[in-house]
Amino acid sequence: MARILSENPQGVMVMPKIAVLPGDGIGPEVMREALKVLEVVEKKTSVMFEKVFGHIGGEAIDLFGDPLPEETKKICLESDAILLGSVGGPKWDDLPPQKRPEIGGLLALRKMLNLYANIRPIKVYKSLVKISPLKDRIVEKGIDLVTVRELSGDAYYGQPRGLDEEKGFDTMVYDRKTVERIAKVAFELARNRRRRVTSVDKANVLYSSMLWRNVVKEVAKGYPDVELEHMYVDNAAMQLILRPYHFDVILTTNIFGDILSDETAALPGSLGLLPSASLGDKNLYEPAGGSAPDIAGKNIANPVAQILSLAMMLEISFNMVEVARKIEKAVELAIEEGYRTRDIAESEEKAISTSKMGDAICKKLEEIW
Ligand code: IPM
Ligand code: MN
Repeated sequence: MARILSENPQGVMVMPKIAVLPGDGIGPEVMREALKVLEVVEKKTSVMFEKVFGHIGGEAIDLFGDPLPEETKKICLESDAILLGSVGGPKWDDLPPQKRPEIGGLLALRKMLNLYANIRPIKVYKSLVKISPLKDRIVEKGIDLVTVRELSGDAYYGQPRGLDEEKGFDTMVYDRKTVERIAKVAFELARNRRRRVTSVDKANVLYSSMLWRNVVKEVAKGYPDVELEHMYVDNAAMQLILRPYHFDVILTTNIFGDILSDETAALPGSLGLLPSASLGDKNLYEPAGGSAPDIAGKNIANPVAQILSLAMMLEISFNMVEVARKIEKAVELAIEEGYRTRDIAESEEKAISTSKMGDAICKKLEEIW
């Protein structure tokens, strides 16, 4: 087992500190289950985590009039890693852009922490082949891919941007450094996988994509052991449905990554299964599926994405690699045994609640430890 507790220069043991930001929609419900799983981990490893709770997004607007309050910034900056639920909902959609949960909350936090690499892995569980929207013959070939989404640039942050009654505009821009940095993440990751990077762009039309493609090609020279292919985003959207088994690492821009990673999330049959890690000055872990306001508060959301995000946190930020594998295994076993929330159940009658799903995963984790 990796050593978790770090020693400060005085030789005093320090407890790892995580910022917990449940946020909006289904965030608080699925976060509760992830924290149950963390409790099992604490019991089994005797490593205790200090958890500091903070507010973000719409609920922070309701409480403090600010989607990213100073207190939350402080909590994040003082923590070793951040575990986030989700932000946003129709209640706050009519606010001015910079005050909205997404822009003023999540995007501002990504910017503050310099989060530049968003890693979104998906696997189709054998027991869930049936609920994939794709044909069995495609899914059975095995789907195991990861999207490496550039998170700090593109039309999300490019200036100038603006909105008035007559006109709304954004600037899609990439510079060399930003592309180099994310390309390296993708190539490094591919080395621990099947060694294929598919770089997705729109270089037949967009200047920012032309630069993207050139820089990715240059970075690839440093990784002769990794196969590189380029694909236009429209084609990639199609290939993900036609032959998803082809992909290993998808390297792409912020906006294309946003869209394609939701598409990849649909392959296993539910958005509720997809975790993500955002790497930067400090790492943040969150489900990729969003706040799902339509099912919030009903105790029916799938906690798996949040639990797998916790596993990614333990692996990447705290080097608890074996623990992460155990959590993933527990999730897989629970699903295999038929414990399923509504989104992945065969029928509504067979579906269990968010909290029961969390309990089932905790129980499995205890059993296999
Ligand atoms: C995501 C989300 C965010 C994004 C929104 C909530 C700002 O869709 O993490 O994929 O567009 O990046
Ligand atoms: Mn998205």
